[in-house]
Amino acid sequence: MSDFSMVELIERKRDGDVLSADELRWIIEQDTADRIPDYQMSSLLMAIVLNGMTAAELGPWTEAMLHSGDVVHLDHVAAPKVDKHSTGGVGDKASIPLAPLVAACGVAVPMMSGRGLGHTGGTLDKLETIPGFRTALDPTEFVSIVERHGMVLAGQSETMVPADRRIYALRDASGTVPSIDLISSSIMSKKLAEGLDALVLDVKVGSGAFMKEAEQATVLAETMVRIGASHDTEVVALLTDMDQPLGRAVGNANEVVESIEVLRGNGPADLVEITLRLGEEMLLVGGVVADRAEARKRLELAIDSGAALDKFREVVAAQDGDPSVVDDTSLLPQADHRQELVAARNGFVTHLDALAVGVAAVRLGAGRRTKADVIDPAVGFELVAKRGDSVEVGDPLVRVAYTSEAQLNSAIDVLTSAWVIGDEAPGEIPLVLGEVR
Ligand code: URA
Repeated sequence: MSDFSMVELIERKRDGDVLSADELRWIIEQDTADRIPDYQMSSLLMAIVLNGMTAAELGPWTEAMLHSGDVVHLDHVAAPKVDKHSTGGVGDKASIPLAPLVAACGVAVPMMSGRGLGHTGGTLDKLETIPGFRTALDPTEFVSIVERHGMVLAGQSETMVPADRRIYALRDASGTVPSIDLISSSIMSKKLAEGLDALVLDVKVGSGAFMKEAEQATVLAETMVRIGASHDTEVVALLTDMDQPLGRAVGNANEVVESIEVLRGNGPADLVEITLRLGEEMLLVGGVVADRAEARKRLELAIDSGAALDKFREVVAAQDGDPSVVDDTSLLPQADHRQELVAARNGFVTHLDALAVGVAAVRLGAGRRTKADVIDPAVGFELVAKRGDSVEVGDPLVRVAYTSEAQLNSAIDVLTSAWVIGDEAPGEIPLVLGEVR
């Protein structure tokens, strides 16, 4: 392959030029081989955020990411193979209860997730709070866990989609997340490497999402549906509300606890509903149910019977995690200190800003500000009052679990503005705002 000058490619992208397929493939190959310094790669990513990519660029870029490592084949697994991915939100732990729930209903779920990105949390960071749990699996192990347990919860690795692993970590710490091209190539390169039959996407919309408006979110969904179609993979996208965080827990270990509550039948209503709606889509595209009503019944039965919780316990053990956590969540990391923020007036919560909560969570230590940061698994928020709740002066709005005073104070600086309390109850915002197929 030809050799190009990275600085010239950055300058051309900065100036709005279109890069060729050879040039884009070269960038991904060189970066995966660790031959491009982070400062040049971040600079290129910023040029992509600002100037976008054409469809003729996005295709080869995504393809090169997908083939940067091994691609898994699961044709020999008889069950339909369906995965789900979210474009990123605050308190969005739906993948954790969803995968075992759907696997317990006979659909194989070979799930490859990500770490925290910007102000949003990451499934891998949450799962790794379970003592011993391994998410870095090689392709042989990935396949063997799907064969034995009908699901796996893994991440990008040196051997699977390494290009996304590197670019994802850089984007997290270089302000280069909110780009339709970078989000769709990141998600679709991972998902198409999993040997899927179909994919269900949860495209988040609102203050805590990377797409603040439904129009942009629709374009993002359409872009991913198109990439799926060009790889013979059916993709269904639900557009869902991320104006306020999902559920009551925001952090890492506490989000695993809330996910387990969903599997026990005790989860918060919004998280349960999103999980069931996405689960319905997964069973429908997997072809294991005739209609939505049957899908809902199967999913509810898998929770009521304990089958979904058993599946989660089984896969935690298969990935070297401590399965007793599933029955005793006090074994998960716990922060030493607690503080409450309380309501300053009587009224209704008219707005709970997901972005402010997400930024505060990063400041508290639940996310990273540089590539080298190590997250604190134990810190986080319990959102006591959410949109529509009535509060009186002195009622708790949020309970903060923290480790360091400095991080707590920095988090509180942004957290206090997250709640707006007014005299009138706000109107309902539907959880599911639209869909793209
Ligand atoms: N999830 C991903 O895997 N990548 C993104 O860029 C955003 C969400």
